[in-house]
Amino acid sequence: MQHRAVELIAAKRDGHALDQAAIDFLIRGYCDGSVPDYQMAAFAMATFFQGMTADETAWLLDAMQRSGDVLNWDHLDFPTADKHSTGGVGDKISLPLAAAVAACGVGVPMISGRGLGHTGGTLDKLESIPGPGRDGKGGGFDVRLSLDDFQTMVGELRVSLIGQTPNLCPADRKMYALRDVTATVESIPLIVASIMSKKLAEGAGNLVLDVKVGSGAFMRTVEQARTLAQAMVDAGQRCGRNVTAILTAMDRPLGTHIGNALEVIESVQLLRGEGPADSRAVTCRLGGEMLRLAGVAPDLAQGEARIAQALDDGTALAKFRALVEAHGGDPRVVDAPEEILPKAPVVLALEAWTDGVVGTVDALQIGLISVRLGAGRNRKEDDIDPAVGLVFGAKPGDVVISGQPLCWVHAADERTAEVALSALRREISLLAPGQSPELLPLFIDTIY
Ligand code: URA
Repeated sequence: MQHRAVELIAAKRDGHALDQAAIDFLIRGYCDGSVPDYQMAAFAMATFFQGMTADETAWLLDAMQRSGDVLNWDHLDFPTADKHSTGGVGDKISLPLAAAVAACGVGVPMISGRGLGHTGGTLDKLESIPGPGRDGKGGGFDVRLSLDDFQTMVGELRVSLIGQTPNLCPADRKMYALRDVTATVESIPLIVASIMSKKLAEGAGNLVLDVKVGSGAFMRTVEQARTLAQAMVDAGQRCGRNVTAILTAMDRPLGTHIGNALEVIESVQLLRGEGPADSRAVTCRLGGEMLRLAGVAPDLAQGEARIAQALDDGTALAKFRALVEAHGGDPRVVDAPEEILPKAPVVLALEAWTDGVVGTVDALQIGLISVRLGAGRNRKEDDIDPAVGLVFGAKPGDVVISGQPLCWVHAADERTAEVALSALRREISLLAPGQSPELLPLFIDTIY
């Protein structure tokens, strides 16, 4: 049947569900230019108000996924799994997780993003690792592999982390840019199709979604996060993948280190079987579920135990070393991260001004302080400073004594360090001894 975009927009505006052919027509047309921006913008706004059925969402995801290259790993003699996080502050989990899961025998072809706003991005963290580069010209950890090189590396090493390539989900690139300027980002079906189309085009058979909840997350409330998680799981499963979503807390930062090189330091701690308890628990939970979905662990508990063992016995660290070297980074970063990684010239500490218990530490505000230090971007084209950020010496709920360092500011100069220090002083409260802050549980829910 011959479709006309205007009729499909009107149908969506009036609350009707579209069929698969209609959705295919819109996405194909938008990519080849026969459906112009203004019609796609109207369609996105109609979808914003009317929503989509689960079938429509899965068809949209599928059409977007098929707009470019779709990778396939069926030729490998091991299973593949990936994870996606909806983003947060201090969320460096992809680094230890990818290495630990690969060390347990499951391939991890991970296509990641950059930080934007108060949230960090895996690619920026990896790029903070200096080294010879893949071409020997000194460019450091290189995330710009061709899809052929990416496939070869996953085949050989079971893991590789790269950035979006121009022909992976081009429909999403075009639509996201349009949604960004037409106030249509905050639509569950459009978010689901956008995130899941990129993850499904990557081809991993098993996918674990870390849906963050709280002030530092895209979804501020548990209810919003649950709705998004359920819709992503449904859409992924309708497209034939094993998908689990785990809702985790982002009302406070994850772990202790925030900032690009600083988060690599915490990742190395985790890969040595050390590091903060919350980051380790999230690594084990997400990794355990990836192993379960991939069929190499019979249940979540055994999956988590295998990930914990890989972190403790050095196999995950050895995998990370090999990964860094293959991508052109200096593998000695796993031996002496503080020496190899870029360092901020100014480090100042905020000390506890009284005895007490650390209260809530708002993830969004902490993320914004680290952006102002230069660790993040306000606009896509902004440069970041890989060395700067924050390192917490105490976390919400910890008992502290007067004079104990609560947080170190790593800054490019004295002035920005002082500004960050006074902002931090406003964000961190100390409760009377015996009190405890109200926090979300680290693991809030799991959706299968
Ligand atoms: N992240 C994405 O990749 N897409 C969205 O629509 C929202 C967040």
